[in-house]
Amino acid sequence: MSVERPVVDTTVPHSARVWNYWLGGKDNYPVDREAGDQFLEAFPGIARMARASRAFQERAVRHLAGEVGVRQFLDVGTGLPTANNTHEVAQAVAPECRVVYVDNDPLVLTHARALLTSAPEGRTQYLHADLYEPEAILEQASELLDLDQPVSLMLLGVLGHVQEYEEAVSIVRRLLAGLPPGSYLTVSEGSNVHSQENAAAQDEYNESGAVPYNPRSPEQIGGYLEGLELVEPGLVSVTRWRPPVRGRGAGLPAEVDQYGGVGRKL
Ligand SMILES: C[S@@+](CC[C@H](N)C(=O)[O-])C[C@H]1O[C@@H](n2cnc3c(N)ncnc32)[C@H](O)[C@@H]1O
Repeated sequence: MSVERPVVDTTVPHSARVWNYWLGGKDNYPVDREAGDQFLEAFPGIARMARASRAFQERAVRHLAGEVGVRQFLDVGTGLPTANNTHEVAQAVAPECRVVYVDNDPLVLTHARALLTSAPEGRTQYLHADLYEPEAILEQASELLDLDQPVSLMLLGVLGHVQEYEEAVSIVRRLLAGLPPGSYLTVSEGSNVHSQENAAAQDEYNESGAVPYNPRSPEQIGGYLEGLELVEPGLVSVTRWRPPVRGRGAGLPAEVDQYGGVGRKL
């Protein structure tokens, strides 16, 4: 049976590809680089935000697989493979970790092979599926993950693509409803408090034909974690979530307009 592949549209920018461009990747098209450059021109800090969010993701996964001992991860809105993908970080700590990746971008599907390089003791799987269908995601993920055991749900840079905030909250709740107590949620989203330029650049990007991204206030981003027990230090600018130890007197890293946190389902 032949499986029909969704078509890669190179006429409008795509979030996964623009994000890849800002992260220094090569899996993007002229239309993505143009939109990415336009954003950078208006707000050069976006590339640092993207890298800071990935670094936060890495620290969160290492913490969850390491200190906490979670062995299953569900990473929705995965993006294009890059350095330190969830399974690489988790399996470096515990090779038996199982990871399910989910994205709805056709190019991510094309590159998914790079996400399926599991350690032999663990497993990885890629699902071409839509965040707007949380129950379908859970059902398909249950083929690899044991949903009676704790799962770490990873939602990084994807909830802003849901136009209505209340709907984004509802999607988070519906995903968490399918996971047992002791599961975790990690979120990281663009915010709108530190820089006017960022907000203006985002408005311009949203006119480009790409699926718009909606930065949200730290309070709104914290709303995704409501009802969960927050892992220290709670919801913070991602650079300040358990930052690597710096030299004496270096102080805390500078904040960026990207907020993240980790919470445990009670
Ligand atoms: C800004 S990128 C973030 C990628 C990665 N999570 C990271 O933080 O590096 C957003 C990702 O969400 C995906 N995405 C957007 N809307 C989605 C949807 N409705 N369903 C599944 N994935 C979606 C995009 O394709 C893209 O890969």
